[in-house]
Amino acid sequence: MKNSQEQVHQKVNIAIFASGMGSNAEAIIHESLRDDTPFCVALMVSNNSRCGAMNMALMFDIPIFHISSQTNPEPENYAKTLLLALQKHSIDIIALAGYMKKLPQNVISEYQRQIFNIHPALLPKFGGEGMYGLNVHRAVLEAGERESGATVHEVETEYDTGKIVAQDRIPIFPDDTPESLSERVKEVEYQIFPRVIREKARQILQTK
Ligand code: GRF
Repeated sequence: MKNSQEQVHQKVNIAIFASGMGSNAEAIIHESLRDDTPFCVALMVSNNSRCGAMNMALMFDIPIFHISSQTNPEPENYAKTLLLALQKHSIDIIALAGYMKKLPQNVISEYQRQIFNIHPALLPKFGGEGMYGLNVHRAVLEAGERESGATVHEVETEYDTGKIVAQDRIPIFPDDTPESLSERVKEVEYQIFPRVIREKARQILQTK
């Protein structure tokens, strides 16, 4: 039986998967550094060894894992190697923060309901293949939407499907451009994603 002091400090290990700038990764890392946060970032995974997210991880002394179809060209080996790395770091939750590759099926099956993706629009609208970066915000503006926002959902095999776990909305202004909308949606993302991970980590701790 653990004493209450140990329980306060017990944390769930999460892995962030990212391919780009890493501003969401940064928000999650900052959240993880708070004493009362029930998770720590135990691994940063990327298909792009030089992306901002990987640099961010190095700055914060977070272990990094680079895997791509170049490092591991054979799909079965790729899938096994990735799952082994997650198991080696005792990962409980996976946060996809701008990860541009599909996860292999073995990882999805092993981490059912424990993989979350952030999408910069109000799913189920404006999701699916090709809906990333400014494409999303352009499509939202072209459709004449009056609001947008960010969605966190559980990850299944297809892009941007899976149960929606949280969604925060912002109004669209008449003079919004894809760039200005992207900036304001990102501010929402930096709040909503750490919040979902915190909640999920708390649930996991309660069952441990
Ligand atoms: C975010 O807008 C996220 O919604 C999407 O990819 C983008 C990643 O941005 N899935 P960053 O690398 O976190 O800055």
